[in-house]
Amino acid sequence: MISTIDIQSSDFYRDPYPFYEMLRREDPVHHVTQLDVWLVTRYDLVAEVFSDYRRFGKAWPEGVAPYNGPRPAEFAALDDIPADMLDSDPPDHTRLRRLVSKAFTPKAVEQQRDRILALVDRLIDAMLDKGEFDLVEDFAVPIPVRIISHILGVPETDYVQFQNWTVDFVRSFDVTQSAEVKNRGMAAHLKLLNYFDELVAERRGRGGDDLISRLLEVEDQGDTLSHGDLLAMCVLMLFGGYETTFSLISNGTRLMLGHPEQRDLMRTGPHLARAACEELVRYESPVQRIGYIAQHDMSFGGAEIPKGGVVLACIGAANRDPAIFSDPNVLDITRANNKQIAFGRGVHYCIGAPLAILEASIAIPRALERMPDLHIVDTELDWAATSAHRRLQSLTARSR
Ligand code: HEM
Repeated sequence: MISTIDIQSSDFYRDPYPFYEMLRREDPVHHVTQLDVWLVTRYDLVAEVFSDYRRFGKAWPEGVAPYNGPRPAEFAALDDIPADMLDSDPPDHTRLRRLVSKAFTPKAVEQQRDRILALVDRLIDAMLDKGEFDLVEDFAVPIPVRIISHILGVPETDYVQFQNWTVDFVRSFDVTQSAEVKNRGMAAHLKLLNYFDELVAERRGRGGDDLISRLLEVEDQGDTLSHGDLLAMCVLMLFGGYETTFSLISNGTRLMLGHPEQRDLMRTGPHLARAACEELVRYESPVQRIGYIAQHDMSFGGAEIPKGGVVLACIGAANRDPAIFSDPNVLDITRANNKQIAFGRGVHYCIGAPLAILEASIAIPRALERMPDLHIVDTELDWAATSAHRRLQSLTARSR
């Protein structure tokens, strides 16, 4: 029964797809009463949430108190940090996005190809030496962190330091999480901001080709980017592509191992490596849902949503909608016209999508090619306890 679906249950974390199917069919904009949020599961409706920022925005409308209430006093310093682009609406969003979009075009990220391949090969060498390893920690995690650190101009070795902060920060984004998780997230956010504050001070005046140096020039030139904007942007770039991309790489490798016929197909050409990643990101979408805020009272998909209502656009459900995808529960890397919505849509469409696909389309085939006997040891999958992300916490594997 729909009313008994618990999106915070271990059954849901393990396998949300049967629940999504029921919701799409019977109540595509479902009011989750325990949490007082609306879960949108049909593809067309999810796409509408992403595409209409005047109705579904990021800011709390006038006169509406934020869902989580005011921040505890110990985190008041965060009130001075302006919203990053992920959390802002046009025109602020447009101004911020314009400043970084050039660094993430397919052409610009293609320049990272050799660096990514060299990193992937070093990680595979180390895994071959070990024989048994964790595909998450030893392979998937370092790839996005080290590449984005390079793009930003953060010393590579520092990533160990901010890895845990990033995890805590991202986790606290889920509106359904406890106050404890949210507080830990705010503490981590402050640490990340302080880290970048020091790094930026040290970088100022030095010049360079990295993204932070280029953003510093913009900050110096005028009022388009404040110091707070700059720090918020650095944190966003670091965490935006971290957990998401490592989930795609670890889960994607596991899925290809579990579908030998698809794995053989992928070997037939580089163009299929990209198509495979588009399909993997559809099949197990790393970001399962994104929260938006209803900007006024509305009827939507059969539900009545009040101004300020939290609307969760459920990517994981949309990407398995049979109205859009034939045999949605089948992994098919040759799927024609794959309209996966794993990177969102509209003004907030993932700026890092070309980079994520490039990283995964190098890492996954290379691991399978260089470790032909690679196999997963775990019999039970270690899914993270959240319905907001589809993330494996660990994945023990052997290369022989
Ligand atoms: C498989 C990997 C990835 C997935 C599944 C993913 C998913 C998403 C989604 C669904 C959004 C839309 C959010 C919304 O509508 O509020 C988004 C936005 C964003 N992503 Fe990604 N992402 C990935 C990789 C990356 C990478 C590698 C980066 C960093 C370079 C990145 C940086 C961002 C940023 C900055 C935004 C905000 C864009 C805006 O507000 O205009 N993402 N991502």
